[in-house]
Amino acid sequence: MKVLVTGGAGYIGSVTAARLIEAGHAVTVLDDLSTGHADAVPAGARFVHGRVHDAAELLGAELASFDGAVHLAAASLVAESVENPGKYQENNVVGSDRLIDALARAGVGRIVFSSTAAVYGEPECVPIDEDAPCRPVNPYGESKLAIDHLLGDVAERSRLATVSLRYFNVAGAYAGLGERHRQESHLIPIALQAALGQRGDMVIFGEDYPTPDGTCVRDYIHVADIAAAHLLALEHARPGVHLICNLGNGSGYSVREVLATVEQVTGRVLDVRVAGRRAGDPAVLVASAARARRELGWVPERPELSVMVADAWKLVAAKGAR
Ligand code: UFG
Repeated sequence: MKVLVTGGAGYIGSVTAARLIEAGHAVTVLDDLSTGHADAVPAGARFVHGRVHDAAELLGAELASFDGAVHLAAASLVAESVENPGKYQENNVVGSDRLIDALARAGVGRIVFSSTAAVYGEPECVPIDEDAPCRPVNPYGESKLAIDHLLGDVAERSRLATVSLRYFNVAGAYAGLGERHRQESHLIPIALQAALGQRGDMVIFGEDYPTPDGTCVRDYIHVADIAAAHLLALEHARPGVHLICNLGNGSGYSVREVLATVEQVTGRVLDVRVAGRRAGDPAVLVASAARARRELGWVPERPELSVMVADAWKLVAAKGAR
């Protein structure tokens, strides 16, 4: 297939582009490099620098030659979305609306979208399946939910095949591609920076949650497994249908368990202190990914947290040593 990957210079997008190329697909990456890195665009992909808003102008008549699009380009910082909701409306909702419209007009038949567990907000019960109520608690989650709705509409209206993949907590590295946010807020990369001595102590946000050890529980999923789901979604997408699938392993790890795994993998002792809760963090987010298994035939190949941490560590330790 000829596939357009928006956000293909970012963490999940670059790994997805790499796996598409490995599988023999022709890949064009569209990325404005606002958070991604040009050197993360995998060898073998064509790179187009620009915003998703301008896909029609940037790609012109070529747009019609794509068999599918994987749309990952987005602003994705929860805290920033609370401070600057307008940016999330403009970047994520308006940008996606224009892109989806351009794809539909050009007759690109399949769209796979990076949605998120953040659409569910504070869940009523776990594991969370796709029929759980969607009540996002921040503008980031709201923006992704709005795009899920757009994809539902366009599937019905234009007979496009659309898939929303709702990621839980993505971790690990693949083919030399890992998490490199300029503004890091995620637990595992922060813990690895601390293990490398690139930062001093680190903080656990809240120890008074209703969980076994009082810290938040999350469902971590390897970035290579997330990328694999996009390939399957492109293959299994059906015209006129909007399929929504959660992507997680179905098992939860607390913040303390994650930090213990980081210590075990790196052989370093972390300097950890406990602070208050971070606003907007649900206590427990664990996926039921039964639908992805059933509809896409998706089976995560790297479900162990220690493997995710070890893969991320290999990459950051190698870069730190340079
Ligand atoms: N945490 C710490 N200390 C840190 C960083 C994080 O204790 O320095 C905790 C958080 O409070 C949370 C857990 O570690 O309990 C995981 O936090 P991350 O920031 O790594 O991930 P989130 O669960 O907040 O974020 C993920 C996705 C987002 C998505 C969100 C939905 O990365 O894209 O789930 O809630 F929006």
